[in-house]
Amino acid sequence: MICDNLKISKDGHLLFAGQDTVELAKKYGTPVYLMDEDKIREKCRAYKNAFMKYFDERAIPLYASKANSFKRIYEIMTEEGMGIDVVSSGEIYTAYKAGFDLKKAYFHSNNKTDEDIAFAMDHGVGYFVADNIEEVKAVEAEAGRRGIKQKMLLRLTPGIDPHTFEADATGKVDSKFGTAIETGQALEIVGETLKNPHIELKGFHCHVGSQVFTEDVFERAAVIMLEFVAECRDKLGYTADELDLGGGYGVRYVDTDPYLDIDTKVKQVSEAVKETCERLGLELPEIHMEPGRSIVADAGMVLYTAGTVKKIPGYKNYVSVNGGMPDSPRYALYKAAYTLYVANKMNEPCTFKASVVGRCCESGDILQEGVMLPESVGRYDIIALCTAGAYHYSMASRYNKLPIPATVMLRGGNESYVAVKGETLEDLVRNDV
Ligand code: LLP
Repeated sequence: MICDNLKISKDGHLLFAGQDTVELAKKYGTPVYLMDEDKIREKCRAYKNAFMKYFDERAIPLYASKANSFKRIYEIMTEEGMGIDVVSSGEIYTAYKAGFDLKKAYFHSNNKTDEDIAFAMDHGVGYFVADNIEEVKAVEAEAGRRGIKQKMLLRLTPGIDPHTFEADATGKVDSKFGTAIETGQALEIVGETLKNPHIELKGFHCHVGSQVFTEDVFERAAVIMLEFVAECRDKLGYTADELDLGGGYGVRYVDTDPYLDIDTKVKQVSEAVKETCERLGLELPEIHMEPGRSIVADAGMVLYTAGTVKKIPGYKNYVSVNGGMPDSPRYALYKAAYTLYVANKMNEPCTFKASVVGRCCESGDILQEGVMLPESVGRYDIIALCTAGAYHYSMASRYNKLPIPATVMLRGGNESYVAVKGETLEDLVRNDV
């Protein structure tokens, strides 16, 4: 099966995190997002343990909230001793409401407004990751008004192509994110930042992309970043003591995707970091990474109920479900591949090829094309879309006035609870005046 928290029961039902998805669909209704809490914790521990083993106790992984942000997940991050990456006042507020210690939060984004900057400072966000010189100036101004010294990292682009979806490639020189090393602008921004009395420049950040499988991308990024650290030491007399290498490890959506082992990946990065530090005569900096997808993606699933099955002889077949691009926009946006199952017919042979589509008034509302399903698929069957824990709920919309589904957490093989309530029709008009 596509993820190791999936199994098939004796009666041919799909089990997720040890629980019967057909029963869960009955209990909570569909569409519904399911999250395997034990899997999230297992991934956090894998990152934390690897960081401890290969770096030192200062090196903590930061969960990239954008992958999936709701209060309960920040409670889990607190319990697992993780830091977080946040990109908006909304994510900061959600973490704050969950009681997350925001000293361990790193505030990203390429365009922080003055309101965001003030909001983040009001809530004690530990680190600002400034994307460009304008942000540095805006942070300096607000920190100056408050008479504080704000810790900061500078986001730099190492000029690496990670070979992933175009929308997910962020570390190239031509990117809306960060300041390029190659053009000399990075050196300039460091020099400028160091002149600001209310900013404590802790170091540098880069993020090469997301859903990355390419060998050695992270290692090459680490080398380039450390060479830049040495260049700043030599030319500006400034030595960074933190290096944040971003997120981006790929996960398995379909059988052809490889499985990346977190321990192995962190070990490879640590070897590149240590060798380069030695070569350049640098002390080992405090290392961070910001995994999002690789912590939550395979901890998630969306369950739907099938409706209309339409067969167009000589063309193709369509199976419609009671959700679609509003809850799962990644196929519509990126043509992203997924594995789908008919959760109540897991023992039937899959000989019927169909496009699984949503219920929106738009032809692009597709969850996946060319899916092999049982011949008998039809109304009331439960359709499971796997590896849906990242960039689904966090990217959900209410297109066609479809309410955003509930998020239900599963744990311990038999417990389940609602972490985010499903929206009601009343919620859809709450802000209309
Ligand atoms: N750090 C930074 C600065 C980022 O921009 C991102 C992702 C991450 C960390 C986490 O990357 P991850 O480990 O999750 O790959 N909506 C797209 C993904 C956009 C990723 C944006 N940045 C998708 O659904 O594929």
